[in-house]
Amino acid sequence: MLCTVLITILSIIAMIKTEEYGIFFEIEENSFLSDEDTIWNGKVDCLFSCSRMCARETLCKSTSFLENEGTCSLHRETRTMHPDRLLRQQGSIYVEKVVSAKTPISLGTTQSSAVPSCQALLSQSPLPSSGVYWINPDGGSQANAFKAYCNMETDGGGWTLVWSYTFTNYGHFNDKSNAITPRPNWQVRPVVDVPISTTSPLNETDYNAMNFSQWKQLGIQVLIKSNINNWLVCHPGTGSLVDWQEGDVRCQIVKHVTDTCKDKSAPSKYSPSKGFGPMFYTSGYSNTTSYYFDGYTGNHWPTHDPCGENNGNHVKNVVNPHGNIFIRY
Ligand SMILES: *[C@@H]1O[C@H](CO)[C@@H](O)[C@H](O)[C@H]1NC(C)=O
Ligand SMILES: *[C@@H]1O[C@H](CO)[C@@H](O)[C@H](O)[C@H]1NC(C)=O
Ligand SMILES: *[C@@H]1O[C@H](CO)[C@@H](O)[C@H](O)[C@H]1NC(C)=O
Repeated sequence: MLCTVLITILSIIAMIKTEEYGIFFEIEENSFLSDEDTIWNGKVDCLFSCSRMCARETLCKSTSFLENEGTCSLHRETRTMHPDRLLRQQGSIYVEKVVSAKTPISLGTTQSSAVPSCQALLSQSPLPSSGVYWINPDGGSQANAFKAYCNMETDGGGWTLVWSYTFTNYGHFNDKSNAITPRPNWQVRPVVDVPISTTSPLNETDYNAMNFSQWKQLGIQVLIKSNINNWLVCHPGTGSLVDWQEGDVRCQIVKHVTDTCKDKSAPSKYSPSKGFGPMFYTSGYSNTTSYYFDGYTGNHWPTHDPCGENNGNHVKNVVNPHGNIFIRY
């Protein structure tokens, strides 16, 4: 099935990229290279397998695939080197490997090739993997570009990591002394006392936060991930985290981290300022909060409640308990 689909795609766009970065294929249908000195010859299940073998073999420059027999030949040479050896035959496919320096593969890998956001990278580059890339959210000179972590997997990917936090007292979670740490440089009451970070976090346990005024340059959708509470993707309504605006939001649970309260729905309201940090809840924040990013070690606790009851229903006894916020458009 997959093979059929891939062959269809191949014939339509005549070019495909495998998982090997920067390698593309040019296809010529009903042709093959006559070659006495192949690198390898054999049966394969489909054209894609044949091309992929060539992608992985440095010596391989082109392949011939005979559809009817299901055979694949890997060549050291190409039709450009030997135009006379390219023969026509119904049901054969000639595939030439192109290692292109012009592919956008290097995007985001250097300061000068910084992209506006992880989502921009996802749309401009074929199948980028999660990891650290250079970004330049303000879109001006690349001089102020910096490194950020991109999540290219969750809910379609394109997420830029803006905050990785842990807790000041996870073991006594519902104690006043417990708070998230560090916190972004958002506007909360002066009493909020955990350290402020303005350094872009480079992974999910690199406890730092990107300058909050840059978050909205990366988008408006929010992904909240944690290893002690369910993951949410929240779209802004009248409320918006990046705009620091209280109101309605549309959240979806994209991963249940616990079976506790699996039937509970996701929060629908957001408030930046009811307490000592922003919170996501359903109706009344005092008893329906799912996430409370409390940064004060003198009052309340940083609620991470899969039941949405502003209670201690978070996952217990987790090594490296933490949470993350990601942004995309
Ligand atoms: C996360 O980043 C920090 C800081 O760069 C580094 O020390 C740590 O090893 C990284 N952890 C992982 C799991 O990559
Ligand atoms: C955060 O970003 C704003 C806007 O780009 C800038 O004015 C401010 O100096 C930055 N703050 C820090 C601590 O980098
Ligand atoms: C939350 O508290 C309010 C006021 O005390 C009450 O009316 C409401 O039923 C409570 N909601 C939940 C989900 O417990």
